[in-house]
Amino acid sequence: MKQLKQLEDLKVKGKRVFTRVDFNVPIKNGKVTDELRIAAALPTIKYLIKQGAIVILASHLGRPDGKPTEKYSLEPVAVSLSELLNKEVIFIHDCVGQKVVDRINKLVPGQIALLENLRFHAEEEANDPDFAKQLASLADVYVDDAFAVAHRAHASVVGIPKYLPSVSGKLIEAEVNNLSSLLTHPKHPFVAIIGGAKISDKIAFMHQLMSKADTLIIGGAMANTFLAAQGHNMQASVQDTKGQAVAKAILEEAHHKEIKIVMPLDVVVADKAEDGAKHRTVMVGLLQPGDMALDLGPLTTTAINEALQGAKTVFWNGTLGLTEVKAFSKSSRDLAEHLAKLRAMTIIGGGDTAGFIDEVHLHDKFDFVSTGGGAALELLAGKTLPALTPLYK
Ligand code: ADP
Ligand code: 3PG
Ligand code: MG
Repeated sequence: MKQLKQLEDLKVKGKRVFTRVDFNVPIKNGKVTDELRIAAALPTIKYLIKQGAIVILASHLGRPDGKPTEKYSLEPVAVSLSELLNKEVIFIHDCVGQKVVDRINKLVPGQIALLENLRFHAEEEANDPDFAKQLASLADVYVDDAFAVAHRAHASVVGIPKYLPSVSGKLIEAEVNNLSSLLTHPKHPFVAIIGGAKISDKIAFMHQLMSKADTLIIGGAMANTFLAAQGHNMQASVQDTKGQAVAKAILEEAHHKEIKIVMPLDVVVADKAEDGAKHRTVMVGLLQPGDMALDLGPLTTTAINEALQGAKTVFWNGTLGLTEVKAFSKSSRDLAEHLAKLRAMTIIGGGDTAGFIDEVHLHDKFDFVSTGGGAALELLAGKTLPALTPLYK
């Protein structure tokens, strides 16, 4: 098997280390509400500090479309990280430019700086070579520990390694090792549960996952697209009209291959996605104009639990409902509790899903909780992740 270049393969003492992390975490009223992805980067950060490196951290947050946007600033993350490390984290208000260079030049070994959101520059997602070069010029070596964004060919993950000696951090190493073992020999029956909202990103990979899974459970906003593909009027629900053709093809393939598909039977609907919104449970064929399907109903939960009976491996990515709002988090909570008791190898993936598992205090009950959503799914589907390519020996 291909081996990743590891942190220990790199001399970092006294060096400026550009460390790409995935600090794409939920933030409410200027405060990080789930620190899982920050905590997951600590082993690498602590190692670098111990070795006497100058640690320059960089990440994206949300999808600000190439423009500085206050709500997507990484500044609250610097506060969280500093508390977790019990150490000063210097926040730098941009990621490129002379001011950034001047501030970085003043750093001494053992210090940590966090740059502002890389996606405030459109060049990041466009994988612009000059932008990558500017980022690379801030450091002597490069460490990639941003597993959750490894499926994106963006400047900070595929561009910088062209200019600097590059290795993987400890999180990427753990993620790849754990997920690869699932990929190579999953015990059957293998049940995959896919929900969440990043439909267009994930739908194509469900296809490939089907060559491995025996049962596919579909929930969340993802399910709305599948239900619409079956002819249901999902009214105001979050859905991906362009994804309907893929959804149809997946359902047909499942039929031919005799893969069991579990889809919502009943859903919780409301006309507002917020706390206190009036909601009711209806069968999927009975949504009224203005209704949004925001959670799965109790009949569906029963069907899901039945489909999980006897499973030996379970992979779950994407919450089954709008878990940020308590009224719409019930089916995800029920599933988490059910999986926690199941005698199967259980793997959770995704920033929001993993965050939710944390929130309900069940993190320890699973065999592996991946910080990656799309990235974990693509790896499991057998795709080469662009950001990993430069990190192999
Ligand atoms: P992950 O981060 O675990 O990979 P995603 O980002 O794809 O998962 O999806 C999680 C998001 O999906 C959450 O913000 C959740 O509120 C949202 N979501 C799930 N179900 C629905 C739904 N029915 N309608 C709207 N949003 C939903
Ligand atoms: C994630 O949350 O899945 C990663 O941080 C990637 O974010 P993206 O889907 O906006 O590229
Ligand atoms: Mg997410």
